[in-house]
Amino acid sequence: MPKTFLIYGANGYTGELITRYAVERGLNPILAGRNAIAIEELAKKHHLEYRVFSLDETSRLDAALQEVETVLHCAGPFSLTSRPMVEACLRNKKHYTDITGEIAVFEACAAMGKKAEDAGVMLMPGVGFDVVPSDCLALHLKNRLPSATHLSLAFYGMARISHGTQATMTMNVGKGGAIRQNGKITSVPAAWKTREIDFGESVSSPHVSKGSIVKTAVTIPWGDVATAFHSTGIPNIEVFTVVPPSALKMMKASRYIGWLLATKPFQDYLQKKIPPGGPSDEEREKGKTLMWGEASDLNGNRVESRLQTPEGYTLTALAALNIAEKIMNGNFTPGYQTPAKAYGADLVLDINGVSRSDV
Ligand SMILES: NC(=O)c1ccc[n+]([C@@H]2O[C@H](COP(=O)([O-])OP(=O)(O)OC[C@H]3O[C@@H](n4cnc5c(N)ncnc54)[C@H](OP(=O)(O)O)[C@@H]3O)[C@@H](O)[C@H]2O)c1
Repeated sequence: MPKTFLIYGANGYTGELITRYAVERGLNPILAGRNAIAIEELAKKHHLEYRVFSLDETSRLDAALQEVETVLHCAGPFSLTSRPMVEACLRNKKHYTDITGEIAVFEACAAMGKKAEDAGVMLMPGVGFDVVPSDCLALHLKNRLPSATHLSLAFYGMARISHGTQATMTMNVGKGGAIRQNGKITSVPAAWKTREIDFGESVSSPHVSKGSIVKTAVTIPWGDVATAFHSTGIPNIEVFTVVPPSALKMMKASRYIGWLLATKPFQDYLQKKIPPGGPSDEEREKGKTLMWGEASDLNGNRVESRLQTPEGYTLTALAALNIAEKIMNGNFTPGYQTPAKAYGADLVLDINGVSRSDV
């Protein structure tokens, strides 16, 4: 039997995109999810096998896992969906990957690292835009400055975000920010720090004007606050992103009204208002992401590097499938792993359209 993998949540925006790219590569994933009509329709469109079950239907979940080498979990928010899938992977001795960016999910997987090692399987959450490129950038910076004690990462994504990403962000509104300080994940207020960041010159994009792109970026509780520590051991980590001035104001206001936005009636209201889908093919094609990172040590040494990547959802699909293929080829390390820890800082350079430069 040829090796295959399970895409769970295949009918979501990102799951569907990954399915499409998988078929274009000649892969034959088994599609799965809880929505029978949507999963069947998608599977028929791509001539793929499918299974329908919710995450609490343990025997169906186990049966589906028995057919594959690895899972690519695309059903988020992952703080609500990851645990049953990880536990099923450990039970069935199958590898687990997902496209989360949630700190709590990374840390929960890290806490199960020993169990995964004993089971001989790899747990690798975060095989998408968050965290593949930034994790590779973090390790690249650490390789350039092994004595680094502080790491700052930033990204400037020039495209629209999907339903699931908005749903996950909305769910976390009011929870404030997070950084890593002396090795510990530490809560800070929302929009804790801003910083002017020089993302360098955009290469090969007719949609971005020439010249250095300098933007005001703000701290966010991004996945690398968790993962970059596992990849590099650097004990102080901050992650920044560029947001429009109106969003920055909202983030600051959430320090005071966040508790209200987190209440159930507000959450129900906000979640219902999120439009389905995500960026169109054309928008993804036009979009791109600029990344910047800086590592420094206590002696005043400092290195900076930058990445340019395709648009975030395109990158997610490409990165996730590259990793699924590696796993199916037997290239994995049992236990909890980050992408760069398992596959090295150059993993991201295998993706078409990614370039890296050192300052
Ligand atoms: N890290 C990254 O770079 C990255 C990139 C892309 C997406 N993401 C994350 O991936 C997730 C999906 O995003 P998206 O835009 O593709 O979302 P979406 O279009 O809203 O689709 C969500 C998918 O998850 C399923 N799902 C949600 N809750 C579920 C549950 N409790 N049990 C079973 N299935 C469930 C949905 O199934 P139904 O149709 O049955 O509701 C649907 O298939 C989000 O958390 C997003 O933040 C991360």
